[in-house]
Amino acid sequence: MDKDLFLKRIESYVKGLFENDVTGHDYFHMKRVAKKARQIAEKEGAHLFVTEAAGWLHDIGDAKLFADSNQARKMMNDFLMELKVPAEMITDIETAIEDVSFSKGKVPDTLEGRIVQDADRLDAIGAVGIARTFAFGGAKGQLIHDEEQGNTSIQHFYDKLLTLKDKMNTESAKQEALERHEFMEAYLKHFYQEWHTC
Ligand code: ADP
Ligand code: NI
Repeated sequence: MDKDLFLKRIESYVKGLFENDVTGHDYFHMKRVAKKARQIAEKEGAHLFVTEAAGWLHDIGDAKLFADSNQARKMMNDFLMELKVPAEMITDIETAIEDVSFSKGKVPDTLEGRIVQDADRLDAIGAVGIARTFAFGGAKGQLIHDEEQGNTSIQHFYDKLLTLKDKMNTESAKQEALERHEFMEAYLKHFYQEWHTC
């Protein structure tokens, strides 16, 4: 089994699906999550191929991004079968991505799933996380900030981003999350200083 070839094909498949996304869930998000997940997997002793493949594929079927989640997941399964990825590994990949999403509020059952969740959450915080949040907010027609209303991108920091450092599953992700968290705190401090000059 040529795992490198499988990963190259998976990358092309993911590129086709996400390259035009402007909500912060673009091809480069998938690439960062795949590569970060692999790095963590090396440290934690997880299955490298399953973890990286699940990192690439983790947002397929997300209800925010796909009109028909079940159909997107079925197409992904067909694609992996045609590629001739061994059936037990397809199952492991699907299990790993099952509970990754923050909105589900679950800790994935497998180490590979917990690692992909950490990599996805790391990409939601720090400098890149900040950029993705404002991209998402703009794409969804949401304001940057308004003290009078809750539905803004700045509010998303408090609803989700600042809570993530305490939700990391692996030791490898915890330290990195802390650094990114501190950067967001500094960013918000500057943001309010500039905001309140007007
Ligand atoms: P998950 O994939 O873990 O369920 P989401 O897809 O909800 O998480 O969020 C992924 C990223 O999309 C967030 O980290 C953030 O950058 C952006 N995002 C999601 N919801 C909002 C929101 N209400 N306002 C601004 N950004 C958001
Ligand atoms: Ni994601």
